[in-house]
Amino acid sequence: MKKMIFVILILSLLLVAVAACGGGGDKAAGGGDADVAAGKALFNKTVLGSSPGCVTCHSTEPGKTIVGPSLAGIASKGEDFIRESIVNPDADVTEGFPAGTMPSTFKDELSEQEINQLVKYLMTLK
Ligand code: HEC
Repeated sequence: MKKMIFVILILSLLLVAVAACGGGGDKAAGGGDADVAAGKALFNKTVLGSSPGCVTCHSTEPGKTIVGPSLAGIASKGEDFIRESIVNPDADVTEGFPAGTMPSTFKDELSEQEINQLVKYLMTLK
């Protein structure tokens, strides 16, 4: 009987451990992990609507420039800035980069929800 209790104890400990891992992404800022995951998937698409996808121009590794600036640490610029950069890329052109390079098609071709997901994902890049 003692053995049985021991087994149950181990099993419940395992369950707690699994549940803790399943919660995942301690970096997810505020809103649901599902949105962050969806935003990451969108970001990593090579084609987004009629334009090249984010990942073709932006690295998330610090200091790595592709066509656009690395987005490592972009969360520090804030949610509003990130949203504006996606829907209206020429509103605030990053120093050292040419205007008119980042496609301005995203505001028409992505849904409000997709833009929110992208913003949520980028807000995890601290
Ligand atoms: C064809 C290349 C290209 C693609 C595709 C592209 N960008 Fe950009 N992006 C740029 C360039 C160049 C800049 C810097 C000039 C400017 O601010 O417009 C920039 C700037 C940004 C900035 C501001 C960075 C900063 O440090 O100020 C954000 C945020 C951003 N892009 C997000 C995205 C997201 C999200 C996508 C996909 C939906 C995307 N970009 C797709 C080229 C691109």
